[in-house]
Amino acid sequence: MVAQQEARGESGPVTPDETPPRLGRLPVVHNTVSMLRDPLGFYDAVGEVDADVVGYNVAGTTGYFVTHPDLVERILVTDAADYEKGQLLRDSLGEFIGEGLFLLEGEEWKQQRTALQPAFYRERIATYGDSMTAFAHETADEWADGERVDLLPAMRTYTLRVLGKTLLDVDIDRTAESLEPLLSALRERLDPRTLSAYLPLWVPTPTNRRVRESRAAFEATLDDIIAERQGEAERHREARYDVLSLLLSLDESTMDRERLGHQLLTFLVAGHDTTALTLTYAWFLLANNPDAQRRLQAELDATLGGADPTPADLFELPYLDDVLTETLRLYPPAFTTFRQPTRPVTLGGYDIEPDAQLTIPQWLVHRDERWYDDPDAFRPERWTDAFESDLPDYAYYPFGGGPRHCIGMRFARMEAKLALATIAQRYRFEAVTEPPLELAMRITLSPTEPVVARVHERT
Ligand code: HEM
Repeated sequence: MVAQQEARGESGPVTPDETPPRLGRLPVVHNTVSMLRDPLGFYDAVGEVDADVVGYNVAGTTGYFVTHPDLVERILVTDAADYEKGQLLRDSLGEFIGEGLFLLEGEEWKQQRTALQPAFYRERIATYGDSMTAFAHETADEWADGERVDLLPAMRTYTLRVLGKTLLDVDIDRTAESLEPLLSALRERLDPRTLSAYLPLWVPTPTNRRVRESRAAFEATLDDIIAERQGEAERHREARYDVLSLLLSLDESTMDRERLGHQLLTFLVAGHDTTALTLTYAWFLLANNPDAQRRLQAELDATLGGADPTPADLFELPYLDDVLTETLRLYPPAFTTFRQPTRPVTLGGYDIEPDAQLTIPQWLVHRDERWYDDPDAFRPERWTDAFESDLPDYAYYPFGGGPRHCIGMRFARMEAKLALATIAQRYRFEAVTEPPLELAMRITLSPTEPVVARVHERT
């Protein structure tokens, strides 16, 4: 997508030689094989096409990439009522989390969102701050000066500890046995390169068997925890701030046992790898940009002076905020958003049929040079107030937008910033893995090789 080709959202200019828009004239990328084998290459090929709505045909299904911020805003926000999450997501995730917030639609979704929202109120998540900082220390305690650290597994351990505490308020050793295998089996099952991704869960592939067994173990652990909770004195129960306690306080018609399992699994799937990847990419970028790392550490030293960060301190750490914002721009773990219109719609002048698969890729929009100078460069300092006020609203949407925006956004940003502030005060990261990162589009945007940095204790 080139800069001269100005915004062609609904409000954009129509050039005199533009033929009347019709489906047949949309660039259509026919390439089932490359989409399945190399989704990232496929997305990048779409990014090269000079249009804001790009049709494609994969396995006989027509879909469209939508890459203009005004159109993104229309789909996610203004006309959100005309779109659903769609069949693709229901097919791949429905059996695990179909009754969870991520996939429900209509009135049921609204009721659940309202019921769950209190778990993510600012005051509530602020109470998780101490645990987040403590777990960040635990992670850093496991490293020795000069050690090479494989970042993603380390960050996964951190985010799993945080979720174990904040979702269930149990010692993570107790749930690790079922959670770790379940999350890794699910990652495998949803990986488009595996056979299991295309087979129903009952087909006895090794991955499917692992998913079924680890899920049963997770549900059994959950049953035990629920039974204990229900046996607790009321004053103990009321003093708990975890998400499970909130779910258990809802009446049976809002939250039956099956739905409760789907909701917890939704939070685990949505909140575990996304934040672990964000932190992995942040350390990778800081290690490879020593000036940015020095500036971050200078801000932390000046503001915290070696003390542990609290949620309130985060307001005083603007560069830390910019580092996170820029990391999520370059490497959005949720690399795309999917929608399906429920009625005929017009996008960018093109008629789109109901049920067409819409791909609304953060990966392309966040690196579009119409909105970002030198879009592939890591430049936290680009996020000035002036830049942000000129930026179209939906040129940046790592957490989605509109009514279905990420309910865990504030939680995730706080969790990531507390970990960055805690660990960056203790260690300097030296690059071992250098750019370019080899990435793959799995359920999230993931590195294909270990991302490694050498950590040096700061004195
Ligand atoms: C950096 C970390 C995260 C990223 C990048 C991220 C990204 C997103 C995005 C893009 C969506 C919207 C999807 C759509 O519109 O189809 C979403 C929804 C959601 N996220 Fe997150 N997320 C993160 C962390 C979390 C955490 C920590 C939790 C919970 C503990 C969470 C729970 C959810 C849920 C439940 C939804 C569905 C909301 C609804 O449909 O009402 N996410 N997330």
